[in-house]
Amino acid sequence: MDASASHRPSSGRDSSQDRARASHATGASRDSRPEALAALADELMQREDHWQLATYSKIPLVLVEGRGCWVTDVQGRRFLDLYGGHCVASVGHCHPRLVQAVQDQAARLLFYSNAVYSDVRAEAAEKVASLAPEGLRRVFFCNSGSEANETALKIARRHTGRRRIVAMREGFHGRTLGSLAVTGLPGYLDPSWPVPTDDTTWVPYGDVEALDAALGDDVAAVLLEPIPSMGGVQVAAPGYFERLRESCGARGALLVFDEVQTGFGRTGTPFFGEGVGVVPDLITAAKGAAGGVPAGVVFVREDVAAGIGSGEQGTTFGGGPLACAALAATADILRDEGLCANAAAQGAWLTDELLRVPGVRAVHGRGLLLGVDLDRDAKPVIAALREAGILVGSSKPKAQMRLLPPLVLEREEAGLFVDALRAILT
Ligand SMILES: Cc1ncc(COP(=O)(O)O)c(C=O)c1O
Repeated sequence: MDASASHRPSSGRDSSQDRARASHATGASRDSRPEALAALADELMQREDHWQLATYSKIPLVLVEGRGCWVTDVQGRRFLDLYGGHCVASVGHCHPRLVQAVQDQAARLLFYSNAVYSDVRAEAAEKVASLAPEGLRRVFFCNSGSEANETALKIARRHTGRRRIVAMREGFHGRTLGSLAVTGLPGYLDPSWPVPTDDTTWVPYGDVEALDAALGDDVAAVLLEPIPSMGGVQVAAPGYFERLRESCGARGALLVFDEVQTGFGRTGTPFFGEGVGVVPDLITAAKGAAGGVPAGVVFVREDVAAGIGSGEQGTTFGGGPLACAALAATADILRDEGLCANAAAQGAWLTDELLRVPGVRAVHGRGLLLGVDLDRDAKPVIAALREAGILVGSSKPKAQMRLLPPLVLEREEAGLFVDALRAILT
């Protein structure tokens, strides 16, 4: 499969053509000497730091272009992006079909809310819902992962008439107050914030006994990332998900998979449950759903959906025409280019190869959501990879690095990473 060949730039770094393109992308004709471009990068970083709240600790890179698995900075340096713009660039950066769909829609009708019907929303709803498991094909469109999770919890509470949510200690579900109230990872809850956690019970991921003990008759939903990512990538032992499904069914709680990272093909199937033969009651998604355009989706079991009426949830921008054009195009690309299968194949190959690299202790995850455990602190290794022109993610466990590349990743590109890591670790 050669999903990205048509839109990936040739390898090689720092060409004058790249610099010229980078300069063009920032909107001005500029001095393209390396020292002038380095000064420009500094100036842009300073301006952004000056005007934006200091909530992010950023990688000192000013990116101006992307194609496939590659991004280019303002200095014309090219990087192999195994971080995927934070797990977002599912079909590759600037996939031509996605860009065309967004451009066409922007020129036709940029926005109108759910107050009216829309041709592109009808198309997106059908295409996106069809990716979900049978029985879960009703969708609510929103704008982000946090909003999708809050919506799912609202729906679960409404459906069951119960309040309590069981969530995982390792789970991350977003930064809004409602999604923080079910986030178990330490470091995100600050006592000075009025986060409403009274109705949350946390249990360890992968522990069925703890889950059963927490599943009282007041539990509306069990919410989890099927593969925790921010908290450190790990996959529960075989059988866990079936037991989870049974326990929720027996106690009348809805099972909610937060697939904000794992969804839309990343783990080798459109959604995680398909790979383990388990269908949850609700799935939340965002990140790669629209390939880079902000969009969140809640997939709802059909009988649960039937009980939801007008005015019970809403959002101005969710399901807007631009997002819907991107959602529909992303669903088409995932299917037409066989990207689920590619994610499974490249992930399996990477796992095998990485386990042969001295200094790699273990590889966790599935498809193209991988946590690579090293025999040392990952931070300097991540910095060295960046120096070598490769971007990867960090993780909560200090010795783990995370790979969340575009699903168009090719064997040759995966090989560049394995070779670079081997050189750094040895
Ligand atoms: C598993 C998971 N859920 C929810 C979220 C929140 O998504 P957003 O940042 O789009 O609100 C994230 C973001 O990283 C996530 O990884």
